[in-house]
Amino acid sequence: MAKNTGKEAKSVPINIGIDEKDRREIAEGLSRLLADNFTLYLKTHNFHWNVTGPMFQTLHTMFETQYNELWMANDLIAERIRALGVVAPGTFEDFSRLSSIKEQGDVPTAKDMIRLLVDGHEATARTARSVIETAEEANDTPTADLLTERLQIHEKTAWMLRSLLAEESSAAASKSA
Ligand SMILES: [Fe+2]
Repeated sequence: MAKNTGKEAKSVPINIGIDEKDRREIAEGLSRLLADNFTLYLKTHNFHWNVTGPMFQTLHTMFETQYNELWMANDLIAERIRALGVVAPGTFEDFSRLSSIKEQGDVPTAKDMIRLLVDGHEATARTARSVIETAEEANDTPTADLLTERLQIHEKTAWMLRSLLAEESSAAASKSA
């Protein structure tokens, strides 16, 4: 753990009906989710800037919708960590240590960008899913609700991105033939 993350914030004691051990464990999971979400946000914005090719307009616009959604989610996740009385990670050092998603060093092809974003949304979904049981066992409904919402978004976005890579279905292909 870095010096300033995962720490109980020094302030007025918290008594919300979730014990300290559970609050810290849930916050630790949410910190990993925040790191994945922030890394995926940055990757999506990077691809919005650098995508090229015949799918430019579609992908440039689609990535913009996606990075805006991820940007807003950073705040929701971080502020849930704070409501649990724990310091939220907020530096590149923290995020690169906590994230399960690797950064992209080069500029991939448009198709590879889509594949990398599918991987990123799936990885972020796996991280969110790994925390939900702890939250539910501790009766932390607000965290469980947040995680359910994030899972829906990551699974739906991964499906939409995956669909761009799939062959046309035979019904659609014969219709257009
Ligand atoms: Fe832009």
